[in-house]
Amino acid sequence: MCGIVGYLGKADAASVLINGLRRLEYRGYDSAGVALLDDGKIVVTKAPGKVSALSEKARAEWPAERFSRSGTGIAHTRWATHGPPTEANAHPHLDQSGDIALVHNGIIENYRALRARLEAKGHLFLSDTDTEVLSHLIGDSYKSNLFQAVCDALHQVEGTFGIAVLSAREPGKIVTARRGSPIVIGVGEGETIIASDASAILSHTQRVIYLNDNDIATVTADSIDIRDLNNVPVTREIAELGFDATAAEKGGYAHFMLKEIHEQPDALANAIRGRLDFNLGTSVLSGMGTSPRELAEISRIVLVGCGTSLHAGLVGEYAFEDLANIPAEVQQAAEFRYRNPIVSRNDLVVAISQSGETADTLAAVREAIQKGAFVMSLCNVVGSTIARETSRGVYLHAGPEISVASTKAFTCQVAILLMMALKLGRGRRFSREEGMQLAKAIESIPDLVARTVRQSDHIAEIAARYAKNEHAFFIGRGPMYPVALEGALKLKEISYIHAEGYHAAELKHGPIALLEKDTPVVALACDIPGKDKTLGNVEECRARGARILGIITEGDHEAAAVMDDVIEIPRTHPLVATIPAAVALQLFAYHVANARGCEIDQPRNLAKSVTVE
Ligand code: F6R
Repeated sequence: MCGIVGYLGKADAASVLINGLRRLEYRGYDSAGVALLDDGKIVVTKAPGKVSALSEKARAEWPAERFSRSGTGIAHTRWATHGPPTEANAHPHLDQSGDIALVHNGIIENYRALRARLEAKGHLFLSDTDTEVLSHLIGDSYKSNLFQAVCDALHQVEGTFGIAVLSAREPGKIVTARRGSPIVIGVGEGETIIASDASAILSHTQRVIYLNDNDIATVTADSIDIRDLNNVPVTREIAELGFDATAAEKGGYAHFMLKEIHEQPDALANAIRGRLDFNLGTSVLSGMGTSPRELAEISRIVLVGCGTSLHAGLVGEYAFEDLANIPAEVQQAAEFRYRNPIVSRNDLVVAISQSGETADTLAAVREAIQKGAFVMSLCNVVGSTIARETSRGVYLHAGPEISVASTKAFTCQVAILLMMALKLGRGRRFSREEGMQLAKAIESIPDLVARTVRQSDHIAEIAARYAKNEHAFFIGRGPMYPVALEGALKLKEISYIHAEGYHAAELKHGPIALLEKDTPVVALACDIPGKDKTLGNVEECRARGARILGIITEGDHEAAAVMDDVIEIPRTHPLVATIPAAVALQLFAYHVANARGCEIDQPRNLAKSVTVE
């Protein structure tokens, strides 16, 4: 949510910053801005809209020499929180003197009180943002040391921040800090890049330092000094990113989303590789960090997450109860945080987050740790805050997910939850033979998904028939119920079709009133327990004139007979089938949105990684 880049080095800072913003644009894309230190002064340009608009504006307004001579700057791509996405509200924001520029992710909660105090001292504000208050506060605290001024200001703010600050009075230096909003520092050869996520750093260096909450760093082209807010030096290790810039490019696909859907066989193979033990009929998830005794003591599992990750958790709930015989429940992370949850030592709390930065999920993790639960995470982004704050966890290894709509992270999350359930099930009720069978089904997931992805053209033809509708319903039962929720979420977020997911049995308790002739109903009717009942629900929809798209098991003529259109997925274990079924719905959503001419990778109003509550 919002993207920050800062640069210090010999390269043309403006171009580095704008290219960095392009990499971060998926985090927010309603306006963008850049500030450079040029000829002893701070120069700023900002534009509403995409980074391309900013780039055009900078090239039109700025002299060419500015690009070649300035090697210091900060930049931002915004997802509006306070104030509409106008040029005035775009970052960077200057202090009263115009000598200090700031970019900020997060929310300054007490900004009204701070603004009133500063206004009383004569400060004039040009925007509606909380961020501008912070830039003025730093300016107000400034005597001769930017680091100290930022420290003093941050002591006065409540809320969350990831910031980068530049002062004309201290050239060649950026001060950056975080609380609740990530900052990564790329350690290059004679250059340093600051960013809110590693995608903006990849093309410069693989060596990075992740700041912890309340760290504040003074950065130059060849030095990084990190302290806490009380000015006490702290040590942070340099980590290797482990993936290169090509992983974050479209690679010939029309959209990142399509690329990421097609990457799933490989992503899933990476998520599964080395994690199945066919000899013992179990899985090897060393990141869970549990001894067999600890595993045996787990009496309840609580899965927390938001959005798509929450839906993965719902599949996990079925898996843990069905395979491991452990009571499991899913809680929306924001609810968990505020409802004073009952969790204790023998409860395993699993936080699921692609980005590892979602504010509500992070807060749920902290709450669960506070309550003494046994907490672990499933994250994709290595070194992310949730991954670091949970001492145990399993990485997805799905590779960078750039498209705002999550695809490969979901399927990898489900695959890992199945492997966790296998491990826990093997310690409780599974025989070696049963464990081996499930392990084999899990091992086949990349192939099942490859076979589903190969139907992309067929799914595009079907999607064209649904692209003009403005409403759609998705139904399923058992583990296919969360897949129905996820299918509806995918369709609504990228095509703007109003889509709702329901348990198949729930439709007749109200929503069926909305069905009219040709209202689309997407029925998850794979050949798993409960299929006959779902087919009965399909008949109820048909009787009201709905048009039915069935996601069915290949060769299931009985199911095909009651559908208007079908997408077939390979026959497999009922829980494993959730993965190819979800992939079929990802492709359906993608092709519907494409047929409607939507901006698939950057849907309106959304941002990847929601770091505010
Ligand atoms: C939808 C989507 C979101 C995220 C949610 C949680 O396609 O991507 O619903 O799943 O914002 O994000 P993470 O998994 O990063 O915590």
